[in-house]
Amino acid sequence: MSRTRVMIRRLAGVQHLLLAVLVVVGVGRGLGAGDAAGPLLGSTALFLAWYAVGARRAASGRDLADGRGRPGRGLPVGGWWLLGLVGVWLLTVVASPEMVWVAFSLWLLAGHLLPLVHAVVVSVLVLAVVVGRGGHAEGWSTAAVLGPVIGGVFAVALSRGLQVIVRDSQQREQLVTSLVAAQAEAEELHAELAQTQHAAGVLSERTRLSRDIHDTLAQGFSSILLLARAGAATGEPAARTRLLGQIEASAAEHLQEARRVVGALAPTPLESGLVDALGRISARLEQESGVRTEVRVEGEVTSLPPGIEVALLRTAQSALANVRQHARATSVVLTLAEAEDSVRLDVVDDGRGFDVATLGAAQGSPAGGGYGLRASRERLLELGGGLDVESEPGRGTALSAHLPRSAGGGWR
Ligand SMILES: Nc1ncnc2c1ncn2[C@@H]1O[C@H](COP(=O)(O)OP(=O)(O)OP(=O)(O)O)[C@@H](O)[C@H]1O
Ligand SMILES: [Mg+2]
Repeated sequence: MSRTRVMIRRLAGVQHLLLAVLVVVGVGRGLGAGDAAGPLLGSTALFLAWYAVGARRAASGRDLADGRGRPGRGLPVGGWWLLGLVGVWLLTVVASPEMVWVAFSLWLLAGHLLPLVHAVVVSVLVLAVVVGRGGHAEGWSTAAVLGPVIGGVFAVALSRGLQVIVRDSQQREQLVTSLVAAQAEAEELHAELAQTQHAAGVLSERTRLSRDIHDTLAQGFSSILLLARAGAATGEPAARTRLLGQIEASAAEHLQEARRVVGALAPTPLESGLVDALGRISARLEQESGVRTEVRVEGEVTSLPPGIEVALLRTAQSALANVRQHARATSVVLTLAEAEDSVRLDVVDDGRGFDVATLGAAQGSPAGGGYGLRASRERLLELGGGLDVESEPGRGTALSAHLPRSAGGGWR
């Protein structure tokens, strides 16, 4: 039960107790003064019965205790009940003037159950009865008038004051409840957000890993496969030995890459910078496939952010793997160039080219190939750059990757 409800219950308990005491005092004094017992006890029993009806209704939580009233919309239920109670009380007062003692409880109830104006009117009427019926019992005096007036004003003011306190406390409780609800909602949203962020993080990490595997390990295996096939096809022991050496070198290098991917450490080819790394991978292509390679550098492209270096290196690895697998080129030129606020990497081969329009249909199935260009493009787009592919059957292929210099805080 809320603290406010407990407080209301206690106040009601005090009210019931007070009324009981006043009734006992009134009846006792009335009988003591020789008033007729029948009418007095009968009217008092009726009074208590009517009071009990209201008390029960209030305790059951119905609106009897709501004394705020709605101006212009008549009396609240409690108001009508109180008028009834005042009526029965008048009967008790007729039976014995001593029953004016009970007026204090009526004032408290009026202050509590009626809108202010109604409360004042009813209280004044009750006061008039108290003064008229009780006052002259012991002879008229200033005290006999002033006492009830002070009692009435005090009782009405007290119950109005208590009402304000109760209402404030109810509002505070509502506020606390809504704050707690809002906080719970915020926590729920926060948890949902964290979950979404976690899911997005997992997805982006998977994408990064799948690209890394494609651009490093898959290309490594594909080059080892080509070398092994060439070795199997040749009858010359010297050529076989040379190819075996190349297979070993390629396997060793890609083993290192595999370790880096697994450990998510800094990419090994980049320890000495992008230009060096490009030189190394093109030299290896040349060595293994016989395609002439050249690396050109234009402008200030050293000390690029690691994110840019890794993205461009991965693009170059994928592009050179395509040259090796598809182009049948005799030469390929890699150009790393500075262009205003961005960096560009072009990979141009003189191979057989392909119809760029067919690219979309071919891509999308990692198992069957067609992943490389899409992955490169997505990686570059994520960093705010892009990838252009120009090719025509029989006229070579030109890939141009570009990235803003501001990109590449992390590496992908
Ligand atoms: N330099 C190139 N010369 C000729 N054709 C190319 C060249 N680069 C790409 N292509 C064509 O574009 C297609 C798509 O290339 P992409 O790198 O996306 O996939 P893939 O090389 O077929 O497979 P994966 O890269 O997933 O191993 C290739 O299958 C090939 O037909
Ligand atoms: Mg490819």
